[in-house]
Amino acid sequence: MIKLHDLYFKPFISEQEIDTAVQKMVDGIADDLGDEVPVFIGILNGSFMLVSDFVKKYPKPCEVTFIKLASYEGVKSTEDIQRLIGLTQDLTGRTVVILEDIIDSGNTLEEVHRIFENENVKQLIIATLFYKPEAYNKDFKLHYVGMEIPNKFIVGYGLDYNGLGRDLPDVYQLKTTQHMTNIVLFGPPGAGKGTQANFLKEKYDLIHISTGDVFRFNIKNETALGMLAKSFMDKGELVPDQVTIDMLNKEVEKNAGANGFIFDGFPRTNAQAKALDALMEDKDSQIDAMVALEVDDEVLVERLLKRGETSGRTDDADESIIRNRIKQYYTKTAVLKDYYTDQNKYFGVDGVGSVEDITVRLSTVIDKL
Ligand code: IMP
Ligand code: MG
Repeated sequence: MIKLHDLYFKPFISEQEIDTAVQKMVDGIADDLGDEVPVFIGILNGSFMLVSDFVKKYPKPCEVTFIKLASYEGVKSTEDIQRLIGLTQDLTGRTVVILEDIIDSGNTLEEVHRIFENENVKQLIIATLFYKPEAYNKDFKLHYVGMEIPNKFIVGYGLDYNGLGRDLPDVYQLKTTQHMTNIVLFGPPGAGKGTQANFLKEKYDLIHISTGDVFRFNIKNETALGMLAKSFMDKGELVPDQVTIDMLNKEVEKNAGANGFIFDGFPRTNAQAKALDALMEDKDSQIDAMVALEVDDEVLVERLLKRGETSGRTDDADESIIRNRIKQYYTKTAVLKDYYTDQNKYFGVDGVGSVEDITVRLSTVIDKL
């Protein structure tokens, strides 16, 4: 992921793929033009990189020149095209090939046709590396297209966002979800996860998604997914991951404009961690960190026994049950620790100390994400 000015972009088309597309354009044009010596005209600024790569690959003699037009402001195409540098040579009777980096609305192309109206060229051929069919609203024929792309803003390989990004050899696409901070929060029973989740939620304006709560909500309100989940539970079967993921997806979509999410109680397996990654990827986002509160077993036992004195929770009253729950936690979460460590996303935070001390430690991790 890259950031240009205020916006985030994700990798979209690699240098290698671009090279292949350019080669395909070169081959097509060289074949069709035979021994004609074409004048390639790049439309500046965006096409400088394409033109350079293109003519280096072009197998026969050719001429190269540029005209400079400007139509874009920020990430939007405008109707108003400015001619900054026009034609500087006589092209009467010549075969002219326009080399465009990208055709979007077609406004620039319309201006190009206007420029050539009275030039008496032999033929005007349009070649563009990128083409956004959904945005194009003109009738001019595009003779050669390197690659059709969706109607999303891209940068790199000559294309810019307010001046930045032209130098990048690969192409990046504007992220539909801008930056989110998404955390998977972990901690053994008694680690103080609930307290810290509440704090993180407030401080970073995140949405806390507790899988247990999401389940209870869906079942209580008899949503389609809730009923589906219940049908498995009633048979004593595990709810399939896809059902859980679908519920989480709903929660994420409900809060599409959020600064990010704290996932609590999910994932619990490798497969679920992968499914969560896929869900976030689908939202043009990502899991940034697994943050695990680390507390020594003896401290946990002590805390839970103390809680049991007042909470009335039977599972907090028996030391052997408590120890077993803690052991279970480590057995189950070991794979997840590995999963996120492999991606450099595991952060263990010392969970012993005052609530304030621990929140400071958590903030130090999150501020760096
Ligand atoms: P059109 O006039 O709308 O067809 O747009 C053509 C010009 O707009 C191109 O030559 C680019 O300079 C710019 N442009 C269009 N789409 C993009 C994009 O996705 N990223 C960066 N520039 C773009
Ligand atoms: Mg351009």
